[in-house]
Amino acid sequence: MKNIVFTTVVCLTLFPNANGFVYPNDGVFANPSDVHSFYQCSSSTSYLIHCPAGLVRNDAQKKCDWKVVDPIIHCAASNQPNCREKTRWATDGIVIVGVDSKSGSDSQHLNSLLGIFVDTLHGNNVYVADRSNNRIQMFLGNSLSSGGITVARGNGTGSNPNQLSSPLDVYVDKNENIYIADDGNQRIQMRQKGATSGITVAGGNGGDEELNKLNILKFTNGSSDGIIVAGQQEDESSAKILSRPTNVFVDDCETLYVAVTANDRIQKACNTVAGGYGEGSNASQFNQPWTVKLDQYNNMYIVDTFNGRIQKWRPNDSAGVTIIGGNGFDDKPNQLWFSYSLALDSEGNIFVNDLGNHRIQKFNVLSETNSY
Ligand SMILES: *[C@@H]1O[C@H](CO)[C@@H](O)[C@H](O)[C@H]1NC(C)=O
Ligand SMILES: *[C@@H]1O[C@H](CO)[C@@H](O)[C@H](O)[C@H]1NC(C)=O
Ligand SMILES: *[C@@H]1O[C@H](CO)[C@@H](O)[C@H](O)[C@H]1NC(C)=O
Ligand SMILES: *[C@@H]1O[C@H](CO)[C@@H](O)[C@H](O)[C@H]1NC(C)=O
Repeated sequence: MKNIVFTTVVCLTLFPNANGFVYPNDGVFANPSDVHSFYQCSSSTSYLIHCPAGLVRNDAQKKCDWKVVDPIIHCAASNQPNCREKTRWATDGIVIVGVDSKSGSDSQHLNSLLGIFVDTLHGNNVYVADRSNNRIQMFLGNSLSSGGITVARGNGTGSNPNQLSSPLDVYVDKNENIYIADDGNQRIQMRQKGATSGITVAGGNGGDEELNKLNILKFTNGSSDGIIVAGQQEDESSAKILSRPTNVFVDDCETLYVAVTANDRIQKACNTVAGGYGEGSNASQFNQPWTVKLDQYNNMYIVDTFNGRIQKWRPNDSAGVTIIGGNGFDDKPNQLWFSYSLALDSEGNIFVNDLGNHRIQKFNVLSETNSY
């Protein structure tokens, strides 16, 4: 079945339609009182035409269309109330890897997993920094339970291009190149897709204050020196001072968000946008938030590590909502035993690293309604 396109017909004269509107030209015209119908004029007569059930009027193209296309909401205008944001998730996670909550080094186990990333451009493949196994594991999005595939491995501690030591975090670009926070070697390694050795794209010069060492720096692609974008030596409480910044997220508008773990707050550029009410477990507080990720509507998803929960804060909220966890520290499906990282797939499902249980939990999205 195709969309129905009306052919334009010739009207002999101008005439008012049933609603008193004067058609300036011959042809098919929108009915201002009904999104499902048109008027068509022909030989001084107007006909009301209804689009068939399930189809709606497309004014611009003068045809009945399948449905109104949802507007793409730009990040700069994302505070609109009509955002079709995800608001509810399953309380029980599905274990992707680590069913028995034990560490191991085969394809069904991990050992002290940290950063997690979902490649939404390539089938929602899931990547995780498998820290104590010195490897990056990848789980195919269409076959999550079939086990991990090693896409980068250690080969001993050291500074050679084929080595990897205690990886902390992982990011995958649009060409499926893998960027690894190679913690033990204090560098960011880039492994081109399929490569068994990498290129150091940042750091690799030991740790300290110089710009080619790693703090929170922005590295443009291809440059070995970073620009300091957050963190200065001023007084401790200032928004410019970051006490243990653990995770950064850059949105599509190039706004930088930083999880400032030791200060129990989330910073957006120089403003605190979540927390800042001291350490605690009420809806406005955090206890060591390690990671912040944003969705396309600028809602923040925060791993509130020492509260064992994932908090969601909408833009401008003064309190968050617990969407996952908050049920103590153990190995039940609704518990997170020290989580540090999360990632959202293209459907809004949330993957969480559950370090204490050596497992990845997937929490399926349940609804897209507009309220909590
Ligand atoms: C959020 O705060 C900003 C800055 O104060 C303001 O411009 C914006 O309209 C607010 N959005 C909502 C949804 O309240
Ligand atoms: C490990 O490193 C050694 C020495 O550089 C090299 O000969 C070997 O091929 C590497 N193995 C892997 C799996 O990369
Ligand atoms: C950086 O540039 C290289 C080479 O042009 C490209 O393959 C890679 O995808 C780029 N990385 C990012 C994050 O854009
Ligand atoms: C949370 O705790 C802070 C600090 O004690 C307090 O200022 C704030 O009012 C509390 N908020 C809620 C929603 O309980």
